[in-house]
Amino acid sequence: MTTLIAPSMLASDFSKLGEEVRAVAAAGADYIHLDVMDGHFVPNLTFGPDIIKALRPHTDKVFDVHLMISPVEPYLEAFAKAGADIISVHPEATPHLDRCLQVIKGLGKKAGIAINPSTSERVLDYALEKADLICVMSVNPGFGGQAFIPEMLEKIARIRDLIRGRDIRLEVDGGVNPETGALCARAGADVLVAGSAVFKDGPAHYRAKIEAIRAAA
Ligand code: DX5
Ligand code: ZN
Repeated sequence: MTTLIAPSMLASDFSKLGEEVRAVAAAGADYIHLDVMDGHFVPNLTFGPDIIKALRPHTDKVFDVHLMISPVEPYLEAFAKAGADIISVHPEATPHLDRCLQVIKGLGKKAGIAINPSTSERVLDYALEKADLICVMSVNPGFGGQAFIPEMLEKIARIRDLIRGRDIRLEVDGGVNPETGALCARAGADVLVAGSAVFKDGPAHYRAKIEAIRAAA
């Protein structure tokens, strides 16, 4: 599978989110990664379904919605209706992972499982068959611009093994740049989320930054 690049809008200019989405889409983004934070499951706040709905007309790219909220179940339908294509939930944020995956699929969306750095890949043992994407968090969720946790490379490789021939994407989120992205791809990742590495030097550089990560992978 080719490696997909998913710029995280968390690192973009929130005062002009629509423009920023169009800019990274035009610069070659494969997915648009949208980080939803609730100030409870993670120590930060971002945006909810209304903002995602407002962004939807700006691009046809896949909206990869990463929910860092607890409880999560009451909001799945709202994110589906807002235009999410992939909805990822954290097993650490719900006692009902299986039900969440079923609900997401029932809403006609792809279901993702995002796991924190200290969470074992064993959490996937009875959930993998219902997932379309596994997201390995390579930082502790809540903030952009943190350093990649190198121990996650081993986890990526183990999950690649678990997935084997299944049609499941393996995403890495946090601290991804051309160097760490290359290591992740070598370990088996095929979707790389990148926030600060894409956005830090402004719109004139989005294409080059995305291409640099893609080329390294
Ligand atoms: C962190 C978010 C990430 C974040 C990545 O909680 O889930 O998507 O935006 O940002 P960088 O690439 O700057 O680590
Ligand atoms: Zn994320």
